[in-house]
Amino acid sequence: MPDHYAVMGHPIAHSKSPFIHRRFAAETGEPVAYDALHVEPDGFREAVERFRADGGRGLNVTIPFKEEAFALASRRSARAERAGAVNTLWFEGAEICGDNTDGIGLVRDLIRNLAVDLRDRSVLVLGAGGAARGVVGPLLDESPRGLVIANRTPSRAVELAGRFAGQGPVSTAAFEALAAERFDLVVNATAASLAGALPSLPPGILRAGGVAYDTAYAAQPTPFVRWGAGEGAAVATDGLGMLVEQAAESFRLWRGREPRTGPVIDALRTHLAS
Ligand code: ATR
Repeated sequence: MPDHYAVMGHPIAHSKSPFIHRRFAAETGEPVAYDALHVEPDGFREAVERFRADGGRGLNVTIPFKEEAFALASRRSARAERAGAVNTLWFEGAEICGDNTDGIGLVRDLIRNLAVDLRDRSVLVLGAGGAARGVVGPLLDESPRGLVIANRTPSRAVELAGRFAGQGPVSTAAFEALAAERFDLVVNATAASLAGALPSLPPGILRAGGVAYDTAYAAQPTPFVRWGAGEGAAVATDGLGMLVEQAAESFRLWRGREPRTGPVIDALRTHLAS
């Protein structure tokens, strides 16, 4: 009998997590079964308890339940505490353990798959919501020269930067004020891509040969990826690699095995295109 895992979200029908984790299971030989579970907005806690009572071993958690998963976890990793959100749960005795693998997923995609060195680089993070909160800490861990957070609603950027004060060279700027600056890496952590939109960015803020990284992903290049390519980025990519890397870290937490991610990223890209 395989061990049961699942992803919970609302909506969940288009989740790629079952595709990814089933490939990890096949590759590692781990006896893992993985499903996508649709959960009503007010039904998360009950769904987790039912899943556990039925013998489920662990969960991924996606929009809109990451904050609730954080609250539900009785034991949380430092990464989860810093992000204020949980995307990975598992059960140990009476404990519900929670971690957040989103940020490390981004950093691993940048470093391992895209060969981007973050040390002493200038980084711009667009957005100040849940997605941004998950990636700022792990980006700061890579010792950038500076990390600027810019958001449509500036007060949210200030609040987010405040959470990370003392953990690295983090500051904020309004979109218009970015015109005077040049960045080696621009990370789009806004929800704009999902609506086919783009934050209003001044031209020339990406240094020649820089990297434009969209945390969202789609079958076609997102507006932000097209923006990066138009600005002369050496790498302009969506967040498919981040998605697979965060899943790999969840798999490692659950199973103690690190699956190979490259073939799964390639397979998922092909799958999305078809
Ligand atoms: P998530 O958990 O996906 O980050 P969120 O917490 O609702 O979702 O945050 C969405 C982020 O995308 C915010 O930074 C939001 O900006 P505001 O704080 O000003 O709302 C940003 N966002 C959404 N649509 C945007 C758009 N069209 N242009 C620029 N920023 C946008």
